[in-house]
Amino acid sequence: MVEPTAIRHFSEIDSTNSECLRLAGSDCELPLWVLADYQTNGRGRLSRSWLGQKGNLYASGLYSFTAPPAKLAELGFAAALAVIDTIAPFVANEQLSLKWPNDVLINGAKLCGILLESHASKQQGQNILVIGIGINLSHAPKIQDRKTVCLADFSKAEQPVKPQDLLPGLIENFEKRVKLWQEQGFAPLRQAWLANCHGLGETIRTSQGQIGIFEDMLQNGALLLRKTDGKAIEISAGEIFLSGQEEQS
Ligand code: BTN
Repeated sequence: MVEPTAIRHFSEIDSTNSECLRLAGSDCELPLWVLADYQTNGRGRLSRSWLGQKGNLYASGLYSFTAPPAKLAELGFAAALAVIDTIAPFVANEQLSLKWPNDVLINGAKLCGILLESHASKQQGQNILVIGIGINLSHAPKIQDRKTVCLADFSKAEQPVKPQDLLPGLIENFEKRVKLWQEQGFAPLRQAWLANCHGLGETIRTSQGQIGIFEDMLQNGALLLRKTDGKAIEISAGEIFLSGQEEQS
């Protein structure tokens, strides 16, 4: 029988991603996950902070792969799909969707953010991937220009969903997606991600200010944007905004 991936549980830590990066320099056995009840310096994408109270899920996985860091970015889509797989029993299916690159939404508002960090390992030919997942289970923290939600406001479960109860299933779902990626490449992830994607075919604005139709997600994970002048461009960094998703200030 395959042993489940180890989880180190902290009541408080600066950031579960930072702890994984520290552990990556030690000789601990991989993979492993770090779970914290509370983060004092939670980090989000694009150098933002990730705020939140106790009751939300703050967890990071530490993995080592032979694939180069650019390929490892594909696993952000695997993580977002694993979050959907894990949350699906608690909410109506049509409420859940994915926003490029790897947010998970309920009714178009942010439920979960994912922060990927990778670097070369001390072990030759290996690269370290830290995959940080924040899920708003019981509180919806304010994020500038974003609508946010928490699972508790939609959950069909009678009891609040606890991070430590959710994480083992989330890890299992993530590792299933990783196995498929190792066997078959990015294509099945891309197909599953597109089937759950929010805003495909709609007009979007990117964080760099480009406006156009979200036409596709390509084989390299980039978003294909058809601008108003008819030209198509690949967006491979930043984030996108869809109408109705931004908090009015
Ligand atoms: C985003 O900006 O959308 C990504 C947010 C990622 C937050 C999670 S919470 C657990 C892990 N530890 C961190 O410091 N960040 C990630």
